Amino acid sequence: MVTIMPFDPKKFIAGSLEDIKKTIRDKKAITAVSGGVDSFVAATLANKAVPGQLIVVYVDNGLMRKDETAKVKKAAESVGMDLNVVDARKRFLDALAGATDPEKKRKIIGELFVRIFEEEAKKAKGKGVDFLIQGTIAPDWIESGGLGRDTIKSHHNVGGLPEKMDLKLCEPLRELYKHEVRMVGRELGLPEPIFNRQPFPGPALAVRIVGEVSEEKVKIVQEACDIVETEMDAASLSGRMEKPWQYFAALLPSKTVGVRGDERAYQYTIVVRAVRSLDGMTASFSYIPHETLEKISTRITNEIRSVGRVVYDITNKPPGTIEME
Ligand code: XMP
Repeated sequence: MVTIMPFDPKKFIAGSLEDIKKTIRDKKAITAVSGGVDSFVAATLANKAVPGQLIVVYVDNGLMRKDETAKVKKAAESVGMDLNVVDARKRFLDALAGATDPEKKRKIIGELFVRIFEEEAKKAKGKGVDFLIQGTIAPDWIESGGLGRDTIKSHHNVGGLPEKMDLKLCEPLRELYKHEVRMVGRELGLPEPIFNRQPFPGPALAVRIVGEVSEEKVKIVQEACDIVETEMDAASLSGRMEKPWQYFAALLPSKTVGVRGDERAYQYTIVVRAVRSLDGMTASFSYIPHETLEKISTRITNEIRSVGRVVYDITNKPPGTIEME
C-alpha cells in the first residue's frame, strides 16, 4: 500500500528558506512578480531568505489584466516588498508583431522576459546578480516536455526560456502544485486575495488572443476578462454558482456576421472559459447559471463594440487545455 503524506507548508517553508540561502549564499538574485500566485509566493520566500540581496521586478508587458499594475504594486506594498516596475509594453508588442504560432509566441515572450531580467540585474547597484528566482511549479515543467514527455505547451518560464542565459535559475516551488502553493502563501501570511487569486499565465493575455497580438486585441481581452471576473465573482459571492478555479475571456482570430441596430456587422468572437480544477493538470468546464452567462454576453457586446458574438467553452482538459494557446 502506498501512503501519501499530506503536504506540510510549515515544513516546506523552513526547508525552502534554507535551500534558497544555500543556493544564493552571498550573491544577489532577481525575481519577478507577475500578478499570479506562484511568482508572488516565490518572491515572498526569497525576500525572507535573502533580504537585502534580492531585486524584485514587475515587468509591465502591456499584456496584463485591466488595472493589474496598480493591484500588484498594492499587493507588494502590503507585504513590504520593494518593487521595481519596468515599463516594457512597447517592447513586447513589437516583439510579438507578426507572430501567430502559439509556441513561437511563448518563446518570444520567455526570451524577452529573461533579457529584461538580465538588463535589470546589470543595472542593479553593486552588480553581482547571479540568480533568477522563478515561481515555476510542477505542471509548468511537466507540460513543457522533456525526459520522454511530449510538449503540451512551452510554459514561458521553462520551455520558453532562451538557451543562453547569464543568470542561473533558482526555483523554490518546482515540486509543488497550485493548491500547495496557496497553502504556502497562507502560511507566509499573505493577504487572502493574493494567495487565493485565480491563476494567471506568465505569457499573460497573449495566450488569450488566438493568433496575432495587437494593441486593439489586448484592450478587447482586458475589458472582456474584467467583465467575466466581475460577473462570476458577484454570482459566486451571492451563492448562485460555485467559484471556478479559473475564469476568463479569450479572443478568437475570426470574425462572424451579426446585426447592430439595423445594419450588418462583422465582428470579433469572445470565448468565455471557466473551469473547475485542483492543480491545472486536468480540468472540467464549470456549470454557470444561464442568467450569469446572459449578463456576461450582454455586457460584452454592449460595452465592447467590436465584439458581436460570445460563446461559452464546454471543453474539459483533456482534450482541451485551460488557456487557448
Ligand atoms: P493550460 O492552458 O496548460 O494551463 O491547461 C494550466 C495552468 O497553467 C497556466 N499557464 C501558465 N502559467 N506560464 C505560467 O506561469 C505559462 O507559460 C503558462 N501557460 C499556462 C494556465 O493559466 C493554467 O492555470
